[in-house]
Amino acid sequence: MQVGVRREERAGERRVAATPETVRQLTGLGLALLVECGAGAESGYDDADYEAAGAALTPELPLKALDVLLHVRPLTPETAAALRPGAVTIGFASPASELPAVGALAAAGVTSFALELVPRISRAQSMDALSSQSLVAGYRAVLEAAVRYPRFFPLYMTAAGTIPPARVLVLGAGVAGLQAIGTAKRLGARVSANDIRAASADEVASMGGTFINLELDTRTGGASAEGSGGYARELGEDRAARQRALLAPHVAAADVLITTAAIPGRAAPLLVTADMVAGMRAGSVVVDLAAESGGNVEGVMAGRDVLVPVPGGAVTLVGMQDAASALASDASRLYAKNVANLLALMTSDGTVAPDFDDDVVAGACLTHDGAVRHAGTAAAMEAHT
Ligand code: NAI
Repeated sequence: MQVGVRREERAGERRVAATPETVRQLTGLGLALLVECGAGAESGYDDADYEAAGAALTPELPLKALDVLLHVRPLTPETAAALRPGAVTIGFASPASELPAVGALAAAGVTSFALELVPRISRAQSMDALSSQSLVAGYRAVLEAAVRYPRFFPLYMTAAGTIPPARVLVLGAGVAGLQAIGTAKRLGARVSANDIRAASADEVASMGGTFINLELDTRTGGASAEGSGGYARELGEDRAARQRALLAPHVAAADVLITTAAIPGRAAPLLVTADMVAGMRAGSVVVDLAAESGGNVEGVMAGRDVLVPVPGGAVTLVGMQDAASALASDASRLYAKNVANLLALMTSDGTVAPDFDDDVVAGACLTHDGAVRHAGTAAAMEAHT
């Protein structure tokens, strides 16, 4: 069966959905890999490396002839419509925000798998691209902060005087936040963090951070903020306002603030208001990893630095965009492995045949046989018609 690997078309996207290593893995399963010329160029993988690994190269993928298409960013409705009925696609699909593309995939009879929908169970960890890319993004966020922060991160005791360590505050201690905590600790900062999931206190401590307990539940009588699959549930507005009020002194005391809070399928929660930013010291840096989905910090703009004047200077707001793509080589290496592992799960004797009795396959499937199989997305589409 013919498996196509595309050159990503979205501006700023440097990753690729297969590497020479995964080409070897997939050809070993009896699949024929067809890679678009230059597909790996921006992540450091040459056409010649793909060829040496057993792939054929093509200037343009013949979409109608493919049995499988591997991609990074969600497919456009035009690409979906160009695929043949029964073709399989694997990649990010952003089902909550790309409803027209989901509709086009269903209309084309494509069996699409969205990596956002891979169930978060141990067996599927090697296919969890949200985690692998969040890991890259969390690491990158700290580096972005460090190069903009006009002081050191570590404590230095020198003959010329003592330099105190930077105080780093991380809001949202999921995969990206925990990686940010670990990276900031390795750079020598003093790190604290907050999250609304009960399990996160131990996770923060395990990375060397100090958990800030806001006691939101006991003060407001609310239920646990833990939703299904280990994800957070959205806070009601009264608890969200209470959270902001309790966070304000911690934000004001931070030299570097990194925000990563997200609720699946929803706009990012607003954790830090413009007033809270105005209370930070001059030279402080805020990196918002949720900038692309609305931002955790008021005033942030995705893909840009915004300078907020405060007494004595400014606070720099960094709206992270394409965070994982910025480390394209390793991000692609992990992503391609996630994609190949999911495809391998559906492949036997050189044939790709999804088994919908398998929880991982069924859970990750977005469209099949002309219908939207993911219940949440199907309901959202219904509401929009
Ligand atoms: P995410 O990217 O959806 O959200 C990031 C973090 O923001 C989460 O920890 C969430 O609790 C937090 N958050 C949401 N609203 C917030 C608010 N108002 N204030 C503070 N924090 C807020 O989540 P991510 O990183 O993809 O994963 C969350 C959790 O899922 C992990 O920590 C883990 O427990 C679980 N997980 C399980 C896996 C598995 O079993 N295979 C794999 C990966 C994650």
